[in-house]
Amino acid sequence: MQTRAGKSPLPDWLKILHDPPVQFYYSMNTAQEPCKRIAPDVKLGKGVRIYDFTNLYGCEIGDDVKIGTFVEIQKGVKVGNRCKISSHTFICEGVTIEDEVFIGHNVTFINDRYPRATNGTGQLQTQADWSCIGTLIKRGASIGSGTTLLCGITVGENAVVGAGSVVTKDVPCGAVVAGNPARPVNSRSAAELIPNSDSSVHHISK
Ligand SMILES: CC(C)(COP(=O)(O)OP(=O)(O)OC[C@H]1O[C@@H](n2cnc3c(N)ncnc32)[C@H](O)[C@@H]1OP(=O)(O)O)[C@@H](O)C(=O)NCCC(=O)NCCS
Repeated sequence: MQTRAGKSPLPDWLKILHDPPVQFYYSMNTAQEPCKRIAPDVKLGKGVRIYDFTNLYGCEIGDDVKIGTFVEIQKGVKVGNRCKISSHTFICEGVTIEDEVFIGHNVTFINDRYPRATNGTGQLQTQADWSCIGTLIKRGASIGSGTTLLCGITVGENAVVGAGSVVTKDVPCGAVVAGNPARPVNSRSAAELIPNSDSSVHHISK
């Protein structure tokens, strides 16, 4: 794929803000294809749709998955079939997402409970200085926009996590949870919230 790259002049209103002026850089292929970074080691299933300004490396994406703009998916992540990953979401190493999972906008996963910039000798940490803690999102679950999921958590099948939640513990199958920390809410059942779901999904009361 041929690419061309260059500088675009700043609009006048932005020049006022930047002294000396900065330049916007753009990179685009000759067919006006969108800007994406999909590393050669990414395994993509059939019918995957990936929008602009995404960064994927070392991950595995199933069939018919939709990945919104400004999503980053790191190495070792597995995304099942028919999942929707909405824009601005960050999926870090250690995360496994089963089939038919919905991930809202701006969802953040975590894989290091006590992160540090440097190691004991003051050098920037490397992969050897910390251990990755996994997270599992089971089939049919939905994670609301703006949610943060701490590491070491399993979100059960068909569970629903409300927008803006901070998930600190496992979420049972079919539960509807929300808030910080996320707790079961007085809500319609997950079965009602998910079209065509079966009766095995149960509502958890407070
Ligand atoms: C959690 C959710 C599924 C509940 O929906 P619902 O069953 O219609 O629930 P209700 O609106 O009847 O609310 C039930 C209770 O939960 C509370 N609640 C609902 N959503 C909440 C949220 N995100 N955070 C905190 N509390 C929430 C309500 O205030 C209400 O509390 P009350 O019983 O004390 O009055 C929904 O509110 C939600 O957050 N969905 C995610 C939407 C999203 O992120 N979409 C992404 C794509 S746009």
